[in-house]
Amino acid sequence: MKILVVGGGGREHALAWKLAQSARVEKVFLAPGNGGTAVDGRYENVNITGMEELGAWALVNRIALTVIGPEAPLAAGFVDEFRKLGLRVFGPSRAAAQLESSKAFSKEFMRRHGIPTAAYEVFTDAVAAHDYIDQVGAPIVVKADGLAAGKGVVVATTLAQAHEAVDAMLGQPQHMAVTAGQVPRVVIEEFLLGEEASFIVMCDGRNVLPLATSQDHKRLLNDDQGPNTGGMGAYSPAPVVTPDVHARVMREIILPTIRGMEKDGIAYTGFLYAGLMIDGNGHPKTLEFNCRLGDPETQPLLMRLKTDLVEVLLAATEPGQHGRLDDVELQWDRRTALGVVMAAHGYPLQPRSGDRITGLPGEAEDVVVFQAATVFRDGQLETSGGRVLCVTALADNVRQAQQRAYEVAQAIHFDGRHYRTDIGHRAIRN
Ligand code: AMP
Ligand code: GLY
Repeated sequence: MKILVVGGGGREHALAWKLAQSARVEKVFLAPGNGGTAVDGRYENVNITGMEELGAWALVNRIALTVIGPEAPLAAGFVDEFRKLGLRVFGPSRAAAQLESSKAFSKEFMRRHGIPTAAYEVFTDAVAAHDYIDQVGAPIVVKADGLAAGKGVVVATTLAQAHEAVDAMLGQPQHMAVTAGQVPRVVIEEFLLGEEASFIVMCDGRNVLPLATSQDHKRLLNDDQGPNTGGMGAYSPAPVVTPDVHARVMREIILPTIRGMEKDGIAYTGFLYAGLMIDGNGHPKTLEFNCRLGDPETQPLLMRLKTDLVEVLLAATEPGQHGRLDDVELQWDRRTALGVVMAAHGYPLQPRSGDRITGLPGEAEDVVVFQAATVFRDGQLETSGGRVLCVTALADNVRQAQQRAYEVAQAIHFDGRHYRTDIGHRAIRN
């Protein structure tokens, strides 16, 4: 069968890589894909990004199954469009994707359904927002409503920072990813202390299947310093998610979310990612929902997945009231997988493109380099954006996986490359 993966980042490269391993797959198409998937016989890039055009292409090319990677096409309604055409697709509908695309929607949803999250208020009026900040005090967190690619969150340690964030978000809406015609809104919330983890599940409209645990590093620099990014590295499993924490997250967060969506008349299908803050007593709270897999969490996760992902996705998208994920059991490699993101000069503020990449190793059983912001031009691989690639290694423990990933990363060159050298540090307890 022919499969389509929508997107072209590291997450989508990893999805395509895993799907291509299935005996049932003839070819994996990526729209638009990247430089790595352009030159590999297992994949074929399709240079179409428009929703209707891609749906028509999938129909003509008899695509048996489509998986949508990034949030933007999900929020735009690709799943609704593909379903309308009778195509089999895994992902949430546009309505369900609001759990990620609108912070105000997801916070209100959590409040209504009693799902643990930071206390908050929503504001459209800057004066009221400033008053609220003075009332609550710092530290405090200010979030822009709408998809902001990880840049719409300010964790303010001082009142001045919080006030500045409100002015930036409510005063200059043209800089934020606010949908035309919408009033800019900010969510101001309680600062939560603890350790973060990524909790990702698959849903078929009714049944819920958790993936292995994972954790990413959102800050740019070592020791979790510097600005927030899309993620500089990730690993699986995440020791902070103990079996106890896992059970609590399923019972208090994931299941009430899926049931709550159902009650609200929105069946949730697709990957659901709860960003968690776990306090010292193992109590989890929801920082945010994403309606997709994490990037770079997907790269280590899929290196550990032993089950045929095509079978899993076919079960999840079985026609009818809901899928049959209840029949699926996922098998995971017992080893640890760890991915290190190599970023371009200037990332995250002003990533430079066009730097030539050399030193990429061939694929091995224990190391795969998933590409993201790369293009293949004039017979050469070049950078084309911020997070260029993710070196992902599998080993018996975190330390060894780290060692192996860094060994390979050091040999990969492009001008201005940079990466954190401490990915996985939280999972290494001395
Ligand atoms: P979000 O996009 O909402 O997940 O926020 C991005 C990052 O900001 C998170 O990964 C956390 O590191 C931090 N953050 C968000 N909300 C809070 C909060 N209420 N308390 C502490 N840190 C937060
Ligand atoms: N790695 C964080 C995210 O995918 O949102």
